[in-house]
Amino acid sequence: MAEHLSPAPPTAVRLTRYTKTEQSEILGDGADPFGVAHAGLTWLPKEDHFGIRLGDRLVAHAGLLVLPVSVGGTDTEVVGVGGVAVAPDLRGNGLARLVVTAALDHARTLGPQYGLLFCRQPLVPLYQRLGWRALEQDVHVEQHEGPVLMPLRTMWTPLHEGANWPTGAVRLLSFPM
Ligand SMILES: CC(C)(COP(=O)(O)OP(=O)(O)OC[C@H]1O[C@@H](n2cnc3c(N)ncnc32)[C@H](O)[C@@H]1OP(=O)(O)O)[C@@H](O)C(=O)NCCC(=O)NCCS
Repeated sequence: MAEHLSPAPPTAVRLTRYTKTEQSEILGDGADPFGVAHAGLTWLPKEDHFGIRLGDRLVAHAGLLVLPVSVGGTDTEVVGVGGVAVAPDLRGNGLARLVVTAALDHARTLGPQYGLLFCRQPLVPLYQRLGWRALEQDVHVEQHEGPVLMPLRTMWTPLHEGANWPTGAVRLLSFPM
């Protein structure tokens, strides 16, 4: 009798390549798939990429990039998390949790004490569910014209035990990710 084969559970893997083509594979070719165009910001591409494949199809992504930040006048570094995306037809199945968890496992090997991300207000509860905390204060980020106020919400997560976000003015010393 043939054995019943259930599909393997999805796993997140490191991606060697993540370009506009791979992003479109997940999110399609819409003009503003992250819903952040209104912010009018220039963003940085990410350095390390994690993804979930179902069969031949890339269905989820999270990217990482180590960035300099000043908090309360002290320079440090954060691991920026960005480009978090799940294919529209597969949302609500835990794929963002899976791919962000894989990205953060790698982020813990990079040195900085904190992960940082920017998101639209409606996504704050989702990231809180994943262990992120919202910063209530203003955050400035670099743009071509100089530092500007980040109009999106800023969230952080500890990458190492006991890491606590320091008090003081927050300024990302680079374009946002
Ligand atoms: C945001 C996005 C990545 C979420 O992907 P997803 O696969 O649906 O998310 P998940 O199913 O993994 O949900 C993650 C967790 O948040 C929870 N969650 C989802 N919506 C929530 C809400 N409104 N309030 C509280 N928790 C919520 C889920 O229950 C899950 O928690 P659990 O694992 O404990 O059950 C997806 O909607 C997307 O690609 N959006 C477009 C691109 C975008 O805006 N990306 C964000 C850039 S910052």
